[in-house]
Amino acid sequence: MALLPILRYPDPRLHKKAALVSRVDDSIRKLIMDMAETMYEAPGIGLAATQVDVHKRVIIIDVSEDKSALLALINPEILERSGEQVCEEGCLSVPGIYEKVTRSERVKVRALDPQGKSFTLEAEGLLAVCVQHEIDHLEGKVFVEHLSLLKQGRIKAKLAKQARITA
Ligand code: NI
Repeated sequence: MALLPILRYPDPRLHKKAALVSRVDDSIRKLIMDMAETMYEAPGIGLAATQVDVHKRVIIIDVSEDKSALLALINPEILERSGEQVCEEGCLSVPGIYEKVTRSERVKVRALDPQGKSFTLEAEGLLAVCVQHEIDHLEGKVFVEHLSLLKQGRIKAKLAKQARITA
C-alpha cells in the first residue's frame, strides 16, 4: 500500500469530471487500498479518487468510530433521495475549513463493489452526507461550491494565507 498525495482546493484538477470504471480489476483494487491508507492516515471519513488525482469513479467511506467499516463504491449512482439535512462538513482537500451544507437526508445508491458486483446502499444521516459529498468530487465539485460566492472568496483567501505561512 502507499500513501497518496491529496490535491488541495483550489487546485483545478479537483474540478475534473471522473470517468466511469469500465472494468474492476487489480489496478482498481490497489487504488482502493491506497486510498484507504491515505484516508485513515489523514485522518478522514471519506475520499474520492479525484482528490488523489485519479479521475475514475471510485469513492471510499468509513464513518465508523473504530475504522472498521470501509465502504468502497465504484461508479456510484444516486437512485433516490429524500428529506433535507444541514451538516457541518469538512474536506481533506480544504484543510481547516468547516461549513454548513444542506443535502438530502436519505439517499439510495447503486454501485459496484471491489469484486465488480453491483449492490445498493440505503444511507441516511452522516453516511448519506458523505456519499453525496464524495460523489460531488467525482463531478468535479468541492463542498465549498455549495456556499455563497462571498464565502468561497473568503475561504480561498484564508487558504492562500495558510499556504504562504507553511511555504
Ligand atoms: Ni471532500
